[in-house]
Amino acid sequence: MSKAFDIGLESLAGESSLRTEAVRPGGLALPNRGTFFLETFGCQMNDHDSEKVAGVLMSRGYQQVESPEAASVIFYNTCSIREKAAQKVFSRLGEFRDKQHDGKIIGVLGCVAQQEGEAIFKRAPWVSLVCGSASYSKLPGMLAQLEAGNQRVTGLDTDTDETFETEVTRRDNPWRAYLTIIEGCDKACTYCVVPFTRGPERSRASDSILREVRQLAELGYSEVQLLGQTVNSYADPTARRMRFSELLLAVAEVRGIRRVRFTTSHPSDFTPDIVEAIEREPKICDHVHLPVQSGSTRVLRAMQRTYSREEYLEKIALMRGASRPIGITTDIIVGFPGETEAEFEETVSLLEEVQYDSLFSFKYSPRPNTPSLSMSDSISEEEKSRRLAILQDKQREIQAAKNARLVGERFEVLVSGKSRRENQWSGYTTAHRMINFASQETELLGTYVQVRVTGAGPNSLAGEHAV
Ligand code: 5AD
Ligand code: SF4
Repeated sequence: MSKAFDIGLESLAGESSLRTEAVRPGGLALPNRGTFFLETFGCQMNDHDSEKVAGVLMSRGYQQVESPEAASVIFYNTCSIREKAAQKVFSRLGEFRDKQHDGKIIGVLGCVAQQEGEAIFKRAPWVSLVCGSASYSKLPGMLAQLEAGNQRVTGLDTDTDETFETEVTRRDNPWRAYLTIIEGCDKACTYCVVPFTRGPERSRASDSILREVRQLAELGYSEVQLLGQTVNSYADPTARRMRFSELLLAVAEVRGIRRVRFTTSHPSDFTPDIVEAIEREPKICDHVHLPVQSGSTRVLRAMQRTYSREEYLEKIALMRGASRPIGITTDIIVGFPGETEAEFEETVSLLEEVQYDSLFSFKYSPRPNTPSLSMSDSISEEEKSRRLAILQDKQREIQAAKNARLVGERFEVLVSGKSRRENQWSGYTTAHRMINFASQETELLGTYVQVRVTGAGPNSLAGEHAV
């Protein structure tokens, strides 16, 4: 998935290392252990896992560098949700086959590590650490073993009930802080590797989440995004038993926090109290990412999505009935085994009915260990591509029309990008719409400004700073 922010890396590294410094316990001088390079593939959860891994490495005295050549430790945080993503890491590792990797520690993290396990050592013997995302809490110990001279270490358990909490996280975005509140997934969508690679669902204690949000606010973050594969299935393990909607409200109450985001929501656990929280508290962003995957109830059943088209539309109706308009985005898979042309058309008609603000769409990709692997992947690659193109054309049309209707409106924007072109800035509205806008101000990064929309395309808006 694409990176949401387009900001110069140097400025981020400067900002973030300062922040890492500030939370380093005790402020002790650290041994200089060398340098690390960390490349991340996949979703926001993976990006955030990498921020935590970088924090752990920095707290042990490693310094982050921008190229594998300059590093003594090289980590790839991998994604295996679709085959293409999984292949990337092997092509990266292949780059070391002929090169001298003299003494460098090379590690594979994330979902491919979990899935392939020790087979990675066979395929790429120059790898010395393989750790799946469900075992990240063991990473510091694994690093210590490597530093003590062990040649190979693995962390591949998925039956852990721990979440990956660290004292130090190297945050890559200076204004928006990501926070995992629930790890793993207990759903059993038949196409999905996540329950295998990330293990069972584990929710983080509400008091620990709120403590971290308070720290983040003190460090100057004004926007937090709560993360989880099914973030709204949150089940507070403490005696408080906070509901997800109560947690949203409690996070919004933290002094200094201006925006609370959350992703990804599962339709079956999307309850009216979440909409009520959004209506009640303007700091809770008016954006819900609610993956539908298909518009056909028959396909949804085959996917084991636990809701029908009609039940999904009831959730949409809840949001459309809210006193505050809510931006809705989704994920769709085309070409699931046995998806007929008519069933695909039901997905197209769902797009028309819901009028999403944006969507991520994918061709079905058979994955190891998943139940749908035994269903015949009967739809050809060409046909999947054809369906994907139809869907994307339809959505482009919808977005162009929806965005055009926003011309003349005013939005609050958190400024997160500065263009090379003079006086041009960019940022996101609360509903997560991207706006490029003009302003005569000299420094706006990290501030909240009012922007009037003056133009619209299918993927972004253009505007001017309104004073
Ligand atoms: N094939 C294609 N897309 C998939 N996704 C998950 N598994 C697969 C798969 N096997 C998509 C879903 C999910 C998003 C993160 O990735 O749409 O919501
Ligand atoms: Fe995968 Fe389904 Fe869990 Fe999402 S809800 S992570 S698609 S199993």
